Amino acid sequence: MPKIFVTRQILESGINLLKGKDYEVEISDFDGVLPREQLLGKIKGADAVLALLTDKINAEFFDAAGPQLKVVANYAVGYDNIDVPEAKKRGIIVTNTPDVLTESVAEHAIALMFALAHRIVESDQFMRDGKYAGWAPMLFLGNDMAGKTVGLVGLGRIGSTVAKRLKQGFDMKIMYFDVHRNEDLEKEYGLVYADLETVLRKADFVSIHVPLLPATRHLIGEAQLKMMKKGAYLINTSRGPIVDEKALVEVLKNGVIRGAGLDVYEEEPKMAPGLAELDNVVITPHTASATEETRGAMSELAAKNIIEVLEGREAITPIN
Ligand code: GLV
Ligand code: GLV
Repeated sequence: MPKIFVTRQILESGINLLKGKDYEVEISDFDGVLPREQLLGKIKGADAVLALLTDKINAEFFDAAGPQLKVVANYAVGYDNIDVPEAKKRGIIVTNTPDVLTESVAEHAIALMFALAHRIVESDQFMRDGKYAGWAPMLFLGNDMAGKTVGLVGLGRIGSTVAKRLKQGFDMKIMYFDVHRNEDLEKEYGLVYADLETVLRKADFVSIHVPLLPATRHLIGEAQLKMMKKGAYLINTSRGPIVDEKALVEVLKNGVIRGAGLDVYEEEPKMAPGLAELDNVVITPHTASATEETRGAMSELAAKNIIEVLEGREAITPIN
């Protein structure tokens, strides 16, 4: 009977698909990221592992599992936690969960923009603190989004969904930079393609939608942050290390840019010193895909990828 290990409790829908098969399914009952030694022990003899972005999947992991391991299904679209060439060398299939989380992450990026522009979080805190003394003409002045320019760094599935929603729903102008130009989408949504520097210099809201790769680590460093407009906001729902977080804290403190909305951090779960003390940031705990609908769909897609591979068919969303 094939043995499956799930590295942490996830929404039931996918687990039920696995349990409906003739598999021996074990789900970690540890409340948190399974400590490395325990993880390496638990995966021993597994044919498939349903893993999270908090698990480091590398040669050590594959050695600990053993040569029968056929598939690792990552419960995330990003797979910077996985040594994909090493998996390929060993003939292990790796899958991720694209598409099913696109809307949720795009909505979260847009939610961060609104929260910043309309100063929702600061205002909420002000009310809770009992500071509201009556309507005032200058209280919490923010910015409109309509008519402003969004600069997308990355126009993949998520970036293009952000573009579409903001263009059609909020009359925003959209510029983007990506290593691949998409002229069809440019025409369809009136997007303007430009190099990274131009996007950073012109956008009122810069939103990052690229995967974490050696080439994108600190893509937004101190120099890039200083290219942004003084009134601009930076949004990151992709991966923390794409932005130099310490440099970001400095530019936010010094008013070089107006604010930032972050869902991801360089060294999760830690944040750069000083970040959480700033009023001009909105910070969420890597929850951009955390809607009931999306997390359910991710659970099912990860499970189906495992089932396809174990039954000798092609994975639905393989990486390698
Ligand atoms: C979440 O961060 C993901 O990559 O799915
Ligand atoms: C990830 O899903 C992307 O293509 O943006």
